[in-house]
Amino acid sequence: MNLAPITVAIHTLGRDARQDFIDGLRDGLTRTPKVLSPRWFYDERGCELFEEITQLPEYYQTRTEMSILERHALGIMLTARPASIVELGAGSCTKSRVLIRAAKGMGTLWTFVPFDISETTLRNSASELVDEFDDLTIYCVTGEFDHHLSQIPRFGRQLIVFLGSTIGNLDLEQARMFLSEVRRLMHPGDHFLLGVDFVKDERELLAAYDDAQGITAEFNLNLLHRINRELDGDIDVSAFEHVALWNPADHRIEMHVRSTSDQTVTIGAAELSVQFDTGELTRTEICAKYTRAGVEALLAEAEMRPIEWYADPAGRFGLLLAGHALQS
Ligand SMILES: C[S@@+](CC[C@H](N)C(=O)[O-])C[C@H]1O[C@@H](n2cnc3c(N)ncnc32)[C@H](O)[C@@H]1O
Repeated sequence: MNLAPITVAIHTLGRDARQDFIDGLRDGLTRTPKVLSPRWFYDERGCELFEEITQLPEYYQTRTEMSILERHALGIMLTARPASIVELGAGSCTKSRVLIRAAKGMGTLWTFVPFDISETTLRNSASELVDEFDDLTIYCVTGEFDHHLSQIPRFGRQLIVFLGSTIGNLDLEQARMFLSEVRRLMHPGDHFLLGVDFVKDERELLAAYDDAQGITAEFNLNLLHRINRELDGDIDVSAFEHVALWNPADHRIEMHVRSTSDQTVTIGAAELSVQFDTGELTRTEICAKYTRAGVEALLAEAEMRPIEWYADPAGRFGLLLAGHALQS
C-alpha cells in the first residue's frame, strides 16, 4: 500500500503554455535564420520518443551517465546528505531513482521534487516512484526553466540535480542565467549535481543525433506534427527532413529541419503564414559539448564551488558535484 503523498503543483505554465508556444513560433519563424525552442519537443509523443532515443545504441549519453551514477551515487550522497532531491528537467526520473535509493539507504531523504515542462511525464514518473519508495513525499512542479525555477519549494537541505546534459540545450547566455537561478535556490550546505557531455570525436557525436533507426529524426519532426495537432497548422511534414550538424566554433551539435521544397505553411492559431525555401534550415535544438574547464568557469561565475568530478573511464561524460561558494 502507498503511504506517501504525491503533490502536483502547476506553477502558471499550464495556463500559459499554449500562448508561450504561439509567441515562440511567431518570434522564431519570422527570424532569419528561423529557429524553434527545443522545449516544444516534449509533448506526450515527444517524451515517448526521447525515452526511445535513450535506449539507442548510438546514444551513449544515457547509459554512460547511468553507469557513473550507479558507481558513485553513495559517494555523492555521503557528501550531499540531502533531505530533498530536486531534479530539473526530470523526465522519466530513471536516473534519479539511483540517487534516491542511495539517499534513502542513508536515512536522510524525505522529499523528491521533480520539475519539468511536461505534466504528463511528471505524473507518470511520480506514480511509478511511489510504488518503489512508499515513504517518500513527491512534490512535482510543472514549469519552465526560464520562468519558474524560483517557485520551486524548499524542503530542507537539498541536492539539486540537472542531468542528461540538458544544460547543452541552452546557449551560453541562457546557461549563465539558468545557473545563477539555481544558485539562488541554494543555501549554504546545499549541493548541485550537473551532468555534462564532453567534447569528443565529431563522428561519434553526429551518430548520437542521427541514428540508423531514424528515431531522432522522428523526435525532431514531431515538433512539426505538434504544431499541426495543437495550433491548427497545415505543415506537410513529409516536405521537411531531419538534419544534425556539428558546429565546431561553438562546440555543439545543432538539430535542424530542412525544407525539401519551396513552400508556404500556415499556423492558424498563431495567425501566421511562413515561406520556406528549398534547402532552408530551421534550427530546433543545440546540444553544446563542454570541457571540464568550461563547466568550472561557468559554475564559478554563478558563485558555485566545484567539489568533485565523476566520469566514465573513456571520459565521454561527466558529473560535477558543486557546492555553495560560501561554504568551505
Ligand atoms: C534531454 S531530456 C532529459 C531528461 C532526463 N533528465 C534525463 O537525463 O534523461 C530534457 C527534459 O527536460 C524537460 N525540459 C526541456 N525543456 C524544458 C524547459 N524549458 N523547462 C522545463 N523542462 C524542460 C523535458 O520535458 C525533458 O524531460
